[in-house]
This record gives sequence, structure tokens and C-alpha cells, in this order.
Amino acid sequence: MKRFIVGISGASGVIYAQRFLQKVAKHNKTEIHLIVTANAQAIVRHELGEKADLSHLAFRTYAPDDLMAPICSGSFPTDGMIVIPCSMKTLAGLATGFADNLLLRAADVTMKEKRPLLLVPREMPLSPIHLDNMLKLANWGAHIIPACPGFYHLPKNLDDLIDQFVFRIMDILGLKSPIQRWGHRFSS
Ligand SMILES: Cc1cc2nc3c(=O)[nH]c(=O)nc-3n(C[C@H](O)[C@H](O)[C@H](O)COP(=O)(O)O)c2cc1C
Repeated sequence: MKRFIVGISGASGVIYAQRFLQKVAKHNKTEIHLIVTANAQAIVRHELGEKADLSHLAFRTYAPDDLMAPICSGSFPTDGMIVIPCSMKTLAGLATGFADNLLLRAADVTMKEKRPLLLVPREMPLSPIHLDNMLKLANWGAHIIPACPGFYHLPKNLDDLIDQFVFRIMDILGLKSPIQRWGHRFSS
């Protein structure tokens, strides 16, 4: 069974995280260790509703200030981590090694252990600082996966758009999904 850390930071687009967790749980046996930053918790309430609960989709959920958690240490083995969505503040923390919360520390550990680190930045427009931080992290091996869904599979609604985006991420992590692959004919 694969084990991943999922970090949700305070950017718009927390629906990507919710859908990712749902689809991973539906199509795979995985152990998900979840961290939702304080700002992300407020955005989850705003964008997904007061009653939204993501923790039931995880094996274990950690408080973002729990710097004693097992995932703080490289001795705790994982198959990688995804930050979805990734705020520009969290991106900056990662690019400078400023690990002052559990999400940043776990991602810092993932990088130092050379495990897959996937970042789904969400901001527009992007400043030179944002772009510079992304380039640094990409050069150090992180996968930069901007929250930019494609349209070539001819989505009929928002669900189709979000699903195909999270299936692409699951592909990168080596997880099973019903992704629509280019080369098949899509009909409108
Ligand atoms: C409703 C709302 C939406 C936000 N969306 C974004 C966003 O898309 N991208 C971003 O970088 N910051 C966004 N922010 C700002 C971040 O939440 C803020 O920079 C925060 O410090 C991020 O902290 P965290 O990364 O520790 O969660 C948003 C804030 C609010 C209140």
C-alpha cells in the first residue's frame, strides 16, 4: 500500500484537494496523512461549506502546528507528498526552507529525502517572485502542476474539468484512475 502526505494550503481551489482525496480513496488503497493549514481551513469553510469535512478521507489528520508529528522526520517513510492547492506563501516557505508549520516541514523533509513532491500552485497573475520560487523548486526536483485544467477532453461540466485534472495528478503519483487519455476520440 502506498503512503502519501497531502498538504492543503490557503489558496483558492480547495475543491481540487477534496476531489483528489475522494478519487484516491475510490480507486486505490492508500494511506493518506493530511495537513490543512489554518488559512486553508477558513477557505475550506468558505469554498466547500461550513460542514465540509476532509479528515474522513484521510488515514490520519494532523494539526498544522504539530511539529512533533511523525511526518516531521525523514525516518518516517512515505511515497511522496502533494500540496494542493499551494499558496504563494507556502511556495515561498518551500523555496527558502522556512519550515515554520507542519506542512512546510513535511514538504522540506520530502525534498531532502528526494521523494516525489508535487505542488499545485494557484495564483493569477504571477509575480516574478512567484515564478522565481517555482523555477527554484522545479530545478530541485519538485513537480510544478499549476491549477490549470485542460479542455481537450471536452468537459461537459465543472466535475469533468476537475476530475480530469486530479486524474493527471494521480497518474504522476503512479495511482490508478479512470483518466481519459489523448489518442482516444472525445465527442462533444
Ligand atoms: C478567500 C481567500 C483566497 C485566497 N486565495 C489565494 C490563492 O489563490 N493563492 C494564494 O497564493 N493565496 C491566496 N490567499 C492568501 C493566503 O491564504 C495567505 O497568503 C496565507 O498566508 C497562506 O497561508 P498558508 O500557505 O500557510 O495556508 C487567499 C486568501 C483568502 C482569504
